[in-house]
Amino acid sequence: MSEILTSQADGILTIGFNRPDKKNALTSAMYAALADALEAAESDEAVRVIFFTGSGGAFTAGNDLQDFLNNPPQGDDTPVFRFLRAISTASKPLIAAVSGVAVGVGTTMLLHCDLVYAADDAKLSLPFVNLALVPEAASSLLLPAMVGYHRAAELLLLGEPFTAATAKEYGIVNAVVSGEQLLETAMAAARKIAAKPPTAVRLTKQLLRQSRGDIAGQMAAEGAHFRAQLKSAEAREAMTAFFEKRPPKFS
Ligand code: COA
Repeated sequence: MSEILTSQADGILTIGFNRPDKKNALTSAMYAALADALEAAESDEAVRVIFFTGSGGAFTAGNDLQDFLNNPPQGDDTPVFRFLRAISTASKPLIAAVSGVAVGVGTTMLLHCDLVYAADDAKLSLPFVNLALVPEAASSLLLPAMVGYHRAAELLLLGEPFTAATAKEYGIVNAVVSGEQLLETAMAAARKIAAKPPTAVRLTKQLLRQSRGDIAGQMAAEGAHFRAQLKSAEAREAMTAFFEKRPPKFS
């Protein structure tokens, strides 16, 4: 079965991460499928809202670390950058329903969503520095703007997991509900928006986004450091240590 599931009904394009045995870690092929779906949705008038969900009790464990080791993204036109560009420029509302782990891009993509609902078991994290990497998806710009500098520095420099309750307190998620209520709560919001006048919805999103700063510029700056760090000995050690289930050693 496909590792990215899409379905469309009542103006809502649902995109599901579906690699539960790997906590929905995203491979290059999965990013390509995500980017294709988002790019197609942009010009499909039948799509009014885009809805992200995980599977198997996880949202996503972020970028596949084996892929980072074996197939590191090189340029601006790789699937991961196409995906990041698509979510950061989407003209239609993005809604996420998050349960379980949301690591790395699993959390940074939420900063590009318009509404985010989390189950009470959701565990978010931004462990870039632990992997010898730097923030991506313009999170180094969007996160301090959203949660304040010191909280952003804590989340990005310590890289420790944080709970759905903390994410709600910080304004990263709109509401925390039980796992059983998650999909229905998030989908109810999607249905309400999909039924509203589409041009007014798109213009409202466009106006809301105008004060967000130079997202493309920040992503380019982050990307340059990210790609260089991916080739570093410290990143190789951090990722190898993960698969060898041992603590990394940075000499
Ligand atoms: N890339 C590749 N494989 C991953 C992965 C990732 N990002 N995240 C999890 N997996 C794999 C594990 O290697 C494991 O595979 P195995 O069953 O073949 O050993 C499987 O998914 C289940 O993960 P596991 O670690 O056993 O689950 P857990 O519930 O104990 O922990 C996480 C879940 C997400 C906290 C943990 O897997 C983790 O820290 N993953 C790395 C996340 C990460 O650093 N992402 C990149 C951010 S930039």
